[in-house]
Amino acid sequence: MAAEWLKRAVFYEIYPQSFMDADGDGIGDFNGITEKLDYIRELGCNAIWMNPCFDSPFRDAGYDVRDYKKVAARYGTTEDLKRLFEEAHARGMHIFLDLVPGHTSEEHRWFVESGRKEHNEYSDRYIWTDNWMERPEGIGYIAGEKERDGVYITNFFKCQPALNYGFLNRTADWQKPIDHPACLATRAAMADVMRCWLDLGCDGFRVDMADSLVKNDDEIKSGTCEVWRDIIGQVKKDYPDMALVSEWNNPVSAIGRAGFDMDFFLDWTGNGYNLLMRDYDGTGRDDSFFKKDSARHITDFLDEYLPKYEAVKAQGFYCLITGNHDTTRAAYNLDERELKLAYSFLLTMPGVPFIYYGDEIGMKYQVLPTKEGGYTRTGSRTPMQWDDSVNHGFSKADPSALYLPTDQSADAPTVRAQQERPDSLCRTVKELLRVRREQEAFAVHDNLKILAARQEERSFAYERGNLLMLCNPSGREERLAVDLSGTERLYAVGSCRPDGSSCVLEAQSFAICRK
Ligand code: NOJ
Repeated sequence: MAAEWLKRAVFYEIYPQSFMDADGDGIGDFNGITEKLDYIRELGCNAIWMNPCFDSPFRDAGYDVRDYKKVAARYGTTEDLKRLFEEAHARGMHIFLDLVPGHTSEEHRWFVESGRKEHNEYSDRYIWTDNWMERPEGIGYIAGEKERDGVYITNFFKCQPALNYGFLNRTADWQKPIDHPACLATRAAMADVMRCWLDLGCDGFRVDMADSLVKNDDEIKSGTCEVWRDIIGQVKKDYPDMALVSEWNNPVSAIGRAGFDMDFFLDWTGNGYNLLMRDYDGTGRDDSFFKKDSARHITDFLDEYLPKYEAVKAQGFYCLITGNHDTTRAAYNLDERELKLAYSFLLTMPGVPFIYYGDEIGMKYQVLPTKEGGYTRTGSRTPMQWDDSVNHGFSKADPSALYLPTDQSADAPTVRAQQERPDSLCRTVKELLRVRREQEAFAVHDNLKILAARQEERSFAYERGNLLMLCNPSGREERLAVDLSGTERLYAVGSCRPDGSSCVLEAQSFAICRK
């Protein structure tokens, strides 16, 4: 069963490199995040997911961990991180670290040992063939790098060798069964890493590529699910309140079978989530649902979302995100009004919402050269824009020393400017989160009922307990067969008026009404 505190949780994702630089060296740090906890809390978020902050050569922005138990010096000290946990807890907030269980950096000590020709404790911590003549089929592998006779498998980039959790369907001797002692040792090592940070005070983890553990797995990932049930079971025994969100994009496996508390609905080209805000290509076409002029209908999202939501709603949370460090910024193609409607939807749906830092002010995507393996993702990882001072208040360093440049455009949004403007995106997010916090029905997550979502109009309505949500993303007035009599308006973008037993929604409007 999912941890109870999640019912009221709203997460804020922080890319630590770019949030706040307290020591003026050009890169964000733990103390910077601590300084800004009040901002996050006042926005209405009560939980944080911080991207990897561990020792790393940073060839994939820290998703290439060199030492799971050591913080990267560029973010500060273990004491600083502990203080961040304590300060967050003092404000009633929870913090997730980012666990990368599928691979390490090739500079991790385990991997260095594993590449030696003499057999040792770590020889089978990674996936090696028995000699160099054997080549895994259909899986990326590396040869010629180590003294050991064999090739090894990678999990993502070349610098990220896959940890060994075994194979479900084995086709060669070098493929260990998932209950092989070496594979069990990998599980135990990962549980040990989790305990180490839980002991320091973190409240759980976002789990990177959670579906990637067992190789040659079946379609429903039964091997990987079995491994997770074991690891999560071991850890939850001692830390019953800790929680986990998986990067899996399949809640039926992640929540239903593997035992995660939450799973993300991730942005994959053409999937239901992608069609909401990012259905464009390089040709200028944009058919995203929340684009005013698009022809897209909400059923394109619901058809994929609802069956999965229904399947797991009693066990955990299927989570919607504004974006993350791998996606283009929501503001890439949506204007402020479109973002307001999109966020109104995302923040009133069931599941635990995740706001990517800066999305609350509509930070823009920047076209930049790749940094630390970010490639096109780099443009969504630029420094937070706090105000109009040097480096937008992110850092006191010389601008040339920044981790990434700040948005130089004249209309770059900032927190300060948006806090001062009553109808800003930031104030809208804050208002939405206030309503979300105050209404009990939003803390119940198995209560979604779609009331009106017909092909004839783009508007749609849904209910959660005594709350009624109405949305018209289109550029023209639309009518919905929803009776508003006796309801009270709690929140609105644009207007909607009752008309007999139906209602009329102004172009680009959203309302939350209480029955
Ligand atoms: C998913 C992470 O979100 C991404 O940033 C990273 O590059 C890969 N996993 C590899 O760990």
